[in-house]
Amino acid sequence: MNLEEASRYINSLYGKRGVNREEYIESTELEKFGSIVDEDVSRALQVLFYLTRPQNVLEIGTSIGYSTVSMATVVKGYGGKITTIEYDENVAEQAIKNFKREGVAETIEVKTGDAQKIIPQIESERFDSIFQDVGDKRLYPLLFDDCIRVLKPGGLLVAEDTLFPVMNRFKKSHEELIESINKFNQMVADDPRLESTILSIGDGLTVAIKK
Ligand SMILES: C[S@@+](CC[C@H](N)C(=O)[O-])C[C@H]1O[C@@H](n2cnc3c(N)ncnc32)[C@H](O)[C@@H]1O
Repeated sequence: MNLEEASRYINSLYGKRGVNREEYIESTELEKFGSIVDEDVSRALQVLFYLTRPQNVLEIGTSIGYSTVSMATVVKGYGGKITTIEYDENVAEQAIKNFKREGVAETIEVKTGDAQKIIPQIESERFDSIFQDVGDKRLYPLLFDDCIRVLKPGGLLVAEDTLFPVMNRFKKSHEELIESINKFNQMVADDPRLESTILSIGDGLTVAIKK
């Protein structure tokens, strides 16, 4: 199956629902920012959140906050909250503007800084759901154990871009990136604390439950 074709098909069915990706980008004043999830991933996050109703959510990698808004739209309905981490200050500022425009700013706390420093420093706070989408893919395996540590039992770990290793556009030129994602995928698959799978939407979406 061609993933991009599948994504186009899914979007042709559901394109008018949820947060419109193109409109979101057009309303953003920044020109350069980390790539945001596809609409099918945005919808998958929303469905997973309607299903599991996480109260306390951690997102790693905000960019302009498209996925954050997708999740916040659901979480806001039952009084949950999202903490999202972004190390680029300009991008984080723009994300906050977007959250205000979309009416979800009250639901979201933005932490500006390096996820590699911030997450190991989390002591007592625990999360019902974590969305891993940090731009520096080397952090996927490096932060894995800390993510599981701060995830509640029964909590949901979702990670984007996990089918990079089988995508033609990455196969040859991005060895380090592929290696990191492969390592992360193997850690998730082998971990007895998790039940998980990878959905072939977006660039591959890992969905894991901590037992
Ligand atoms: C793929 S984008 C996030 C997209 C966002 N989740 C969405 O779909 O709307 C990844 C982001 O991670 C940020 N980033 C990269 N390394 C980071 C780090 N060490 N700590 C925090 N953020 C980082 C990048 O600046 C970029 O904005």
